[in-house]
Amino acid sequence: MNQAVLILIKPDGLKKSLTGNILTRLSETKLEIVAAKIVRVPRKLAEEHYKHLKDKPFFEEIVKYIQGELHDRKKVLALVYWGENAIKKCRELAGATNPEEAEATSIRGSYGRITTSGVYENVIHVSSDESEAKREIKLWFEPQDIIVELYPQKEVVCKECKRTVWA
Ligand code: PPS
Repeated sequence: MNQAVLILIKPDGLKKSLTGNILTRLSETKLEIVAAKIVRVPRKLAEEHYKHLKDKPFFEEIVKYIQGELHDRKKVLALVYWGENAIKKCRELAGATNPEEAEATSIRGSYGRITTSGVYENVIHVSSDESEAKREIKLWFEPQDIIVELYPQKEVVCKECKRTVWA
């Protein structure tokens, strides 16, 4: 069964120059990259991404973390991988969410850590299931950013919309 999955290489991954390494690891899956972009994460996007965790004591910290405020790298690399059992394959390579429980050879086991305040800095986000993948991909990407039609889309005519174009 073909699936899409959202991967975020988080600010600590970018700061530690792990992008190439992580992409190499993910290429072992033989999945296809169908979207990719560098994102400066607004607070609203961070809060929406982690909205199911808003009552957790670490919510404020993970919002700051994904915005890059803890690492002086205010960006993440967002990717959509697509193919057979994409979620399971990517989550296996990523390892457990808690870097101390992750298999030592996994991405999080190799590069993650837990901060003194108990927040996981686990280098990479991977959608947990298909419905979360759909919610997250729609949050991080516009339909035109993705080279396949993953979910139903429609065209709308904007009369009064303001956007920046090349001068
Ligand atoms: S998962 O793996 O997405 O299903 O896990 P979930 O429980 O939905 O997401 C938890 C996210 O919060 C981050 N985080 C922590 N979780 C639990 N305990 C602590 N202390 C903690 N600190 C941070 C965790 O890394 C998950 O975010 P992502 O981006 O998925 O890694």
